[in-house]
Amino acid sequence: MTYGTRISGLGDYRPSTIISNEDMAKLVETSDEWIRTRVGIANRRKAGADETVVTMATAAGAKAIADAGIDPTEIDLVLVATCSLLATMPHAAPRVAVALGIPSPGAVDINAACAGFCYALSFAADAVRGGTARNVLVIGAEKLTDITNWEDRNTCILFGDGAGAALVSRSADGSEGIGPVVMGSAGELSEFITMNDKLQMVMEGQSVYRWATGVLPTVVREILDRTGIDAANLDALVLHQANLRIIDSVARSLHLPESVAIGRDIVESGNTSAASIPLALTTLRETGEVTSGDRMLLLGFGGGLSYAGQVITCP
Ligand SMILES: CC(C)(COP(=O)(O)OP(=O)(O)OC[C@H]1O[C@@H](n2cnc3c(N)ncnc32)[C@H](O)[C@@H]1OP(=O)(O)O)[C@@H](O)C(=O)NCCC(=O)NCCS
Repeated sequence: MTYGTRISGLGDYRPSTIISNEDMAKLVETSDEWIRTRVGIANRRKAGADETVVTMATAAGAKAIADAGIDPTEIDLVLVATCSLLATMPHAAPRVAVALGIPSPGAVDINAACAGFCYALSFAADAVRGGTARNVLVIGAEKLTDITNWEDRNTCILFGDGAGAALVSRSADGSEGIGPVVMGSAGELSEFITMNDKLQMVMEGQSVYRWATGVLPTVVREILDRTGIDAANLDALVLHQANLRIIDSVARSLHLPESVAIGRDIVESGNTSAASIPLALTTLRETGEVTSGDRMLLLGFGGGLSYAGQVITCP
């Protein structure tokens, strides 16, 4: 027996502390003008000492469960995508599950850096489709400010903290609200995004930029092909929020109609790695740029280098 899948709820958590570009210019030699024109970021959020990957993931997960209107006891699997949990054991998912009152679910963390949420979403859809789980809570949660080198202007201006979540459920009529995933990697380029011996991120920005703008349009077309729709049938494009110029370049190459909403949460949230796509989704829904039934193409990419993406239907 196989089941159809759907996203039944979304949720987010954004730390209250906002770090503006002017604040960044007090830390390193940079300017609001440089950051806005090169990356498109105006502000990013910074978690406080009491805001951890686990607490942020829990808060976002609680909102997704409430949005779906289901009881936590109906969730059979919790997946947390993160690359910034400093102590990797115990992993985040079982702690999030217990905080949410989900009784003894499967609970796994997934690390595919900025692509983690889309990977987790595809695994969740497969688990629901195959009957392994009735509902799967998928969360992208990052406290990147813990792994940021605050003296490196090449990277510290980019990153922020937060968490976003989606609940994956069976569809009532067998229809598919989560399309086929396209996933891949270029491990030979893994040195472009690494961590130093102080566990701080180091990135060859220009090399990653060239790779992303070269590869992503082809991946988007492959996702559309596998889903069986044209770019013109999309309602929204939600790429990993790494750089507004990458987002706009990919959108331009697809010749999307004006009506297609573009996820641009990076402006207010910065790059939040595995959390960036679900955060962008909740923003698009809150602003009314997407509504229930809209088809949204997601594509995560980054460290690894790795990528994953699919078309989902907005709950
Ligand atoms: C990181 C990134 C924003 C840098 O932008 P860029 O236009 O490539 O900038 P460059 O690295 O070429 O640097 C250009 C100049 O600006 C300087 N610069 C770097 N950071 C700066 C900052 N915050 N403020 C002011 N100047 C800065 C550099 O030192 C360099 O100066 P130089 O020419 O005198 O050496 C961009 O490369 C990027 O977004 N890359 C992709 C990131 C990504 O997708 N990551 C994957 C997910 S994590």
